Amino acid sequence: MQTQVGIIGGGPSGLCLARLLSLAGVRSVILERHDRAHVEARIRAGVLEQGMIELMRKAQVGARMDREGLLHDGIVLTFDDRVERIDLPGHTGGQRVMVYGQTELTRDLYDAVLQDANVSVVFEAQGVRPLGFLDGEPRLDYVSDGKPQTLACDFIAGCDGYHGASRAAVPRGLITEYERVYPFGWLGLLADTPPVHEELIYSNHSRGFALCSMRSHTRSRYYVQVGQGEKVEDWSDERFWDEIRRRLPERFARNMVTGPSIEKSIAPLRSFVAEPLRFGKLFLVGDAGHIVPPTGAKGLNLAASDMHYLSTALIALYREGRGDLLERYSQTALRRIWAAVRFSWWFTSLTHKFNDDAIERKIQLAEFDYLTGSAAGRTTIAENYVGLPFDASFG
Ligand code: FAD
Ligand code: DHB
Repeated sequence: MQTQVGIIGGGPSGLCLARLLSLAGVRSVILERHDRAHVEARIRAGVLEQGMIELMRKAQVGARMDREGLLHDGIVLTFDDRVERIDLPGHTGGQRVMVYGQTELTRDLYDAVLQDANVSVVFEAQGVRPLGFLDGEPRLDYVSDGKPQTLACDFIAGCDGYHGASRAAVPRGLITEYERVYPFGWLGLLADTPPVHEELIYSNHSRGFALCSMRSHTRSRYYVQVGQGEKVEDWSDERFWDEIRRRLPERFARNMVTGPSIEKSIAPLRSFVAEPLRFGKLFLVGDAGHIVPPTGAKGLNLAASDMHYLSTALIALYREGRGDLLERYSQTALRRIWAAVRFSWWFTSLTHKFNDDAIERKIQLAEFDYLTGSAAGRTTIAENYVGLPFDASFG
């Protein structure tokens, strides 16, 4: 088999990249390790920034998102019983965020990609190996239906997440990895219950962080910070509901509608960046190249700028024979990535319990007071939360 761009991974990054390329006439093949149902069932991102929203529209898959997504004008920050709302448009010249689940977005992308003559998807592709990308002859070896296959291509896009094969194939001497693993995780619960509040609540409580989010007016997504080594099996629904209510101010806790969970899982928290993001004809995109703790809702929104820069650069090459943008991909993408790594790390440190040290908590409270009491502090939170702009000079 032969194609122009060989894409490893059929998550949001791989799908959206394939779709943007296709609309410009560039062909691709996506090799996805799992089946479609498995990829769509992963409950992850819930909050989209303007950049990701616009990319979905550009990929001509934004119609359902625009109909069903919930636009949010603010977030609520709490510290024990203190409650402060951050007005997003008021501090950012009118910008808002949208609640639309990654499961829905992935479904919309698959619906389009599987009808698209310029894109082929191989599900359950096993043992994918990127080869020849440093020698100018990139190819992907893999096994499908028990048979070894080779996909020859002009470029490889590694969109296969943190545990994928693309970054792992880069010789160690060519890559630098920066990593911090946080000493806690998030236990998430999804339930068909009305959200406790119409906006998201990020709560710093002496028992640990909690987040109240949603997928719709009838479906809630909640998270509580849990210690490293905690197991989902040890968290009955009842224990989860008791814990999250204890971590919220009384006025929210008393409104909490509980119900049976549809899904429950624990996600570790990590900051990670690989540098550079280009190795000859292999490019890393999305979680394959960087991870942020979920606190600022940035992971997928960061993948969006990678997809935008890489699709723009590849299209410039195929259409106009211009290679300069491909040369600039890594450096341009990394600038926005580090800005989001900084914000996600900082927002995590403002809202989570790191230890039992009383002075740390007093300092967190002083920072909460400073930020919420100052227009500059509120603007800092709001402009980072709605997302920093893509580099407009790239194109
Ligand atoms: P992935 O979604 O990881 O997709 C990679 C794909 O590659 C998968 O389908 C996988 O099966 C496939 N794959 C892996 N290895 C191979 C291989 N060897 N061969 C073939 N295929 C392979 N982000 C936000 O922007 N907003 C949020 O509100 C938000 N909330 C989050 C909440 C939680 C609890 C978590 C865990 C994450 C959250 N994120 C959020 C982050 C977001 O979900 C990720 O950044 C996003 O999924 C990245 O997409 P991706 O396509 O790059 O990688
Ligand atoms: C969700 C996840 C996040 O990490 C976040 O900051 C906000 C919302 C969610 O899953 O809904």
